[in-house]
Amino acid sequence: MGKDEKNQKKPWGGRFKEPTEALVEELSVSVHFDKRLYREDIKGSIAHARMLGEKGIIPKEDAKRIIDALVEIEKEIRERKFSWKKELEDVHMNIERALIERIGPEGGRLHTARSRNDQVATDFRLYLKREAKGLDLLLSRLQGAFIKQAEENFGLIMPGFTHLQKAQPVLYSHHMLAYFEMFKRDRERLRDLLKRVDYCPLGSAALAGTGFPIDRFMTARELGFSNITANSMDAVSDRDFALEFLFFASVAMMHLSRLSEELILWASDEFDFVELPDAYCTGSSIMPQKKNPDVPELVRGKTGRVYGDLISLLTTMKGLPLTYNRDLQEDKEPVFDAIDTLKICLKVMAGLIERMKPKAENMERDVKNGFLTATDLADYLVKKGIPFRIAHEIVGRAVAKCVFEGRELSELRLDELKEINEYIREDVFEVLDARGSVNSKNCPGGTGEAAVKEQLIRAKRWLEENSAKTTG
Ligand code: ARG
Repeated sequence: MGKDEKNQKKPWGGRFKEPTEALVEELSVSVHFDKRLYREDIKGSIAHARMLGEKGIIPKEDAKRIIDALVEIEKEIRERKFSWKKELEDVHMNIERALIERIGPEGGRLHTARSRNDQVATDFRLYLKREAKGLDLLLSRLQGAFIKQAEENFGLIMPGFTHLQKAQPVLYSHHMLAYFEMFKRDRERLRDLLKRVDYCPLGSAALAGTGFPIDRFMTARELGFSNITANSMDAVSDRDFALEFLFFASVAMMHLSRLSEELILWASDEFDFVELPDAYCTGSSIMPQKKNPDVPELVRGKTGRVYGDLISLLTTMKGLPLTYNRDLQEDKEPVFDAIDTLKICLKVMAGLIERMKPKAENMERDVKNGFLTATDLADYLVKKGIPFRIAHEIVGRAVAKCVFEGRELSELRLDELKEINEYIREDVFEVLDARGSVNSKNCPGGTGEAAVKEQLIRAKRWLEENSAKTTG
């Protein structure tokens, strides 16, 4: 192929005298990853073509032929019959070239009053809107798994920790519902950021808008956007909607990672609080006895790459002058990676949580030692009229005595307890008991059975009212 002939193939080849250097082509190509946007690209082009036809900017007949051909191209891509060409750089030029090859030069009218700059921004926003629906559904499934755990094991008491030191007895259901709340906020965050994704940039053209009498509202409506962007320069260079999305994904991964860390600890012989399903664990190639919690380890590990995706795009953006710069092509892979990673992690975690089995005896055994009800004893004294600081000191001394003698507070006799403080009566043993401790904490949001029951009702109601289909 002669040089001229090769350059003719580039949609922008007109002003060029030599063909693109092979290495430049390699650097420049994005079709291997941005072909993921083909549905959105074609949807956007169809809306644009229809609007151009309606407004008399291109002949209606051409608009119709363009639309029909685009529908065929989409089918071909879906059926994997389309051949992507890396010389054509990206998804947009591949599809445009296929269109022109199919219907002739009239296909070239599609790019009237449009640039790849507003085109790619539109595709990217549409794509995020679509993916958000799937993510919302996966998050809601995971929330459902926590509700299942909380319901099926209602009443089970376990140690609650601060500083990873046993602190106070809590209901296992309370612990499970803590995760429900985190993923609820993630869904709310996603919903909130979608409001800012929901602006159509189409019609901004390269950066300045266009002189053709386009109807931006018409295309926005057809594409399902609620608004149009207000400033063409901002519209083609802004990616903060994608950054917000990556922040959402990072926070959701952080929540999954904390959960993973707990599961890894709980599955260890040292804690021995849960049995993870075999189907979610792996063995060792050398040590026959091992059952390793690889799933939570991988999820915890993958959290780092999603943070990396966020930092990567933040860094891409930080030095860019207005408006479009080719650096922006680097916006897509981090978002694709974050979506793929978050999706698989959410799916696997939901399955794991649904099937994990808490080991009630071990949790309850661990509640009995370690002075978990020391605060309850201090509160008991406070109720007898002793100021909290003094009560704290008294109980501290009692704990020290027990540590010295290798006993638990609940193992002290009433006369020994009375020595600690004269106000102590027989009813102190209810307070030193883990269930008594739990059930004394029925303030809203507390770990008492009545409070957690209320929490569970609210959680189930929220999940019902926020069924995944309402988002997006
Ligand atoms: N592949 C490009 C991207 O993802 C499309 C826009 C190209 N625009 C341009 N002026 N070269 O950003």
